[in-house]
Amino acid sequence: MRIILDTANLDDIRYFNEYFPIEGVTTNPTILSKEGGDIISHLKEIRAIIGEDKELHVQVMETEFDKIVEEAKAIVALLGNKKNTFVKIPATPVGLKACMALSKEGYGITVTAVLTAAQAMLASNAGAAYVAPYVSRLENICADGVGTVADIAELFSISGTDCQILAASFKTAKEVLDCAVVGCHTATIGSDVMHRLIQHTTTDTSIAGFEKDWKGAFGEKTILGMIKG
Ligand code: E4P
Repeated sequence: MRIILDTANLDDIRYFNEYFPIEGVTTNPTILSKEGGDIISHLKEIRAIIGEDKELHVQVMETEFDKIVEEAKAIVALLGNKKNTFVKIPATPVGLKACMALSKEGYGITVTAVLTAAQAMLASNAGAAYVAPYVSRLENICADGVGTVADIAELFSISGTDCQILAASFKTAKEVLDCAVVGCHTATIGSDVMHRLIQHTTTDTSIAGFEKDWKGAFGEKTILGMIKG
């Protein structure tokens, strides 16, 4: 499963872009509002950090069809091209109409705020490149977020659509793994959950044990130092 970073924090983006195999960055209005300031410069800075080849997903704020289309095109013109900048449009009737119009022109659309497989099916039929089901928001209301992702994966497999699942809204590392094993294509993950995917106390104690044993036998020498003499 491919991994995207779900934050607009520049320090976090610099860190994870350097150390983790992320394919890009997703934002939404809430994520951007946490950063504040000149959000246009901020988005351009995100693009500069991740480079031209990685994906940047930005959500439209306009709500009328013509304005959504205009805003989507302006976002793509500002931040890259149709291949690396994806426009997030909520799963509503006007969102589907905009998705149909923009995808016909080759724009990559991420239909977001998806809570059901039915919404995902419609988004796929409207030409979306991605659908973003909100896993934790479903789990938090005692609904089956991972099950919804599994249903979408099965639907997409049956239909043979090119539309990909971009699972979002994760609160736990387990939800991420559970989505991966039911066939989710891509997950967008916030910084806190991303850290938890790699951290393990037994990894830390294992490393400490290796260092103790090595130093007991060879002191401060390293294999590199021994090779170089
Ligand atoms: C993607 O960017 C989604 O908007 C995001 O994952 C939603 O996450 P939340 O449910 O934590 O707000």
